[in-house]
Amino acid sequence: MLKVLEHPLITHKLTQMRKKETGTKDFRQNLDEIAGLMAYEITRDLPLEPVQIETPVQTCNTFTLGKEIVLVPILRAGLGMVNGICNLIPTVKIAHVGLYRDEETLEPHTYFEKYPKTIHDGIVMIVDPMLATGGSACAAIEMVKRQGAKNIRLVCLVGAPEGVAAVEKEHPDVDIYLAALDEKLNEKGYIVPGLGDAGDRIFGTK
Ligand code: PRP
Ligand code: URA
Repeated sequence: MLKVLEHPLITHKLTQMRKKETGTKDFRQNLDEIAGLMAYEITRDLPLEPVQIETPVQTCNTFTLGKEIVLVPILRAGLGMVNGICNLIPTVKIAHVGLYRDEETLEPHTYFEKYPKTIHDGIVMIVDPMLATGGSACAAIEMVKRQGAKNIRLVCLVGAPEGVAAVEKEHPDVDIYLAALDEKLNEKGYIVPGLGDAGDRIFGTK
């Protein structure tokens, strides 16, 4: 399932990020805020479990979150989405998957992975601002599946149709959430119109 999360605040903030004159500070801040807004939407269907608590007035039968949530940022750019989501769900466990895309072949290369022990039983949210060819997302999904993860969501800011198609083909069981579905990839594998190199813009490199 592909869901594009349309909301005026998300669109406005993404427009600020797309502008080439937007500097590192504002780019990071808008990404952080959009990640929080997206988290609100993608957690709508989280399972709850019943609990009985005491309010200052009386006993109350209510609910708390029933499953552990594991956030999996794809390094580096995925780190830019962690704070915004943690602000909303402070109990998340955080895995790390280090991948970089070879600039010539566009193939993903793995350089780091670290997971919480309970990942197989949690709701896994893989986060990365950019879904271009889909190579990095598919590799990250395979990596968490190897750890036993079953309930997996992919959360990206900007996606290209090519990347969406690749993930849908290789991992039809994974739900994809985007803030925007752009037109296409260019000859260098960049999303058009996109926002450029997300990692470089977040970390001020290049
Ligand atoms: C970017 C981006 C994704 C990947 C998307 O990362 O953050 O991880 O490319 O491209 P794909 O869908 O074609 O795989 P990059 O490899 O540039 O690393 P970085 O986050 O360290 O900048
Ligand atoms: N990675 C990025 O950071 N931007 C793109 O447009 C494609 C891949």
